[in-house]
Amino acid sequence: MCGIVGYVGKKQSAEIIRDGLCRLEYRGYDSAGIAAVSGGVIDVRRSVGKLHLLTELLKTKPLAGTTGIGHTRWATHGKPSEENAHPHTDCSGKIVVVHNGIIENYQELKKSLSDAGHRFKSETDTEVIAHLVEKEYHGDLLAAVKSALKQVRGAYALGIICADEPFRIIAARQDAPLIVGVGDGENFIASDVPALLPYTRSMIFLMEGDFVDLTPTAVTVYDRSGAVVKRVPETITWNAVQAEKGGYKHFMLKEIFEQPQTIQDTFRGRLYPDDGEICLDGVQFNAQLISSLSKIYIVACGTSYHAGLVGKFLFENLAGIPTEVDIASEFRYRDPVLDETCLTIVISQSGETADTLAALRLAKQRKSPVLGICNAVGSTVSREADHVLYTHCGPEIGVASTKAFTGQLTAIYLLALDLANRRKRIDKSVFKQLLTEFWKVPLGIQEILKKSDDIEALAKEYFHNKDFLFLGRNLNYPIALEGALKLKEISYIHAEGYAAGEMKHGPIALIDENMPIMVIATQGKVYDKIVSNIEEAKARGGTIIAIATEGDTAIKTKSRHQIYVPPVNELFSPILNVIPLQLFAYYVAVSLGCDVDQPRNLAKSVTVE
Ligand code: G6P
Repeated sequence: MCGIVGYVGKKQSAEIIRDGLCRLEYRGYDSAGIAAVSGGVIDVRRSVGKLHLLTELLKTKPLAGTTGIGHTRWATHGKPSEENAHPHTDCSGKIVVVHNGIIENYQELKKSLSDAGHRFKSETDTEVIAHLVEKEYHGDLLAAVKSALKQVRGAYALGIICADEPFRIIAARQDAPLIVGVGDGENFIASDVPALLPYTRSMIFLMEGDFVDLTPTAVTVYDRSGAVVKRVPETITWNAVQAEKGGYKHFMLKEIFEQPQTIQDTFRGRLYPDDGEICLDGVQFNAQLISSLSKIYIVACGTSYHAGLVGKFLFENLAGIPTEVDIASEFRYRDPVLDETCLTIVISQSGETADTLAALRLAKQRKSPVLGICNAVGSTVSREADHVLYTHCGPEIGVASTKAFTGQLTAIYLLALDLANRRKRIDKSVFKQLLTEFWKVPLGIQEILKKSDDIEALAKEYFHNKDFLFLGRNLNYPIALEGALKLKEISYIHAEGYAAGEMKHGPIALIDENMPIMVIATQGKVYDKIVSNIEEAKARGGTIIAIATEGDTAIKTKSRHQIYVPPVNELFSPILNVIPLQLFAYYVAVSLGCDVDQPRNLAKSVTVE
């Protein structure tokens, strides 16, 4: 899941590439490197660790050349080290490669190349590509790359340069994201849009199997068969400032505070409470499919999976459609019963998660119509799904997902309400009333965000604890899971999310005075049940922190601390209740001095299995 940037033009490439890599660092940050061509020679700078270390290196050892490629790495094959950092070179040092993905048959390729005399310098799968291209090179880099990739099995986004062809980059994609930025007298490649926003807004989203030949003045795309194809550039309207931290200390905090706005962005052009209407662009279910749907499968990973779990309640309760939710890595290997009457919904912020993509492809193979709920425009999920519902949250940079999660929830609510209406499962006036209440959710979030100082104070009281339990029931059970995941991801504290009613079947044994328990106890049909669960936990000495509805004074006698959220129709409570949990995790991690935006061992987009 590494990040790639390439530049070919008139300017010095190293600074443009370094700058682009900084905006891709969320894709991995084990090591980084840049290569540039100058005077028929390629020079490489690499360093282990985050990009600021490469920046320092470039200050003492600058890199000249108007054509270059760079990489920020998330290790798959070979430990994070300078030898394993990209770019990788062939024996002559004339052919240089950056790669995102996994070459599955690299060991056999490495063996035959070694037998033929090639000398390998790293443990990576990527290096075989440099040597394969070297073997196939007879004066034309494009031809050499094409021949080399015929021998390769696996996933790749590649940028390749050659000292003998100093004004050219060859790029290729297969099962890993890659875009082309089209400039004026300069052209770019990158793994993702934010890297190129300061330089161009005209971007080509490559298709699987594409090769690209880039020079300062031309971009030529070839499809898998080798034929020249026209890929029309799209104009990206994202504001570059959206990809910056703004005034916040971390991207994650900025993204938490953006949520009232991003939810409105997900509503935009879709939710019309006054007219009692929902219009979903990108979703063209015909009437027959809507009435004959036998089942929905929701498939996703990580935080997106938690959004899916909320979706199950909504599709079943509102739209009356039996719904199963699967972790993508399980779904793809469990032979699910699918046909054209089942709708498969894949949820993915990045639209590039390898397991989610595999699940999508399996569903399509079995004739199930697929709807993708995605944030990244032009991502693979969005291109391969039959229908796409974008969350429109803008780029999410913090590795721990926040605004994309509430965007996903919002999209799911819109879809479930729309299906309920179209399947005539809901009275018109109730439907309209729900849309009006939904419309007000961003205002409720704004109220919660005003309490961030109180939540910070609470985090400062508890950040030394080693274990946390998060409890919720019903619609808020997935929110308990998400609260625990957020804390784990960024503060490395052990946290478990549990269905409160299930607590007595195991986790209750863990409870003592050292176990803070965050309980989602907002008003709703299971309120009394969750209060009983609070009593059970309290009786074992647990310290209760309750997320409760404003005005609930009774909860004060049952819990040590209360975080109040505004009253809202219970149906929409998950979108509000997750906000204090995101803030709590954030402030605990900051109190511990953790690297909030780039937690250890994690990556924003997991493009390997
Ligand atoms: C990684 C990220 C998570 C994300 C998950 C699924 O683990 O760190 O934040 O929820 O992947 O990613 P997706 O892009 O498919 O939603």
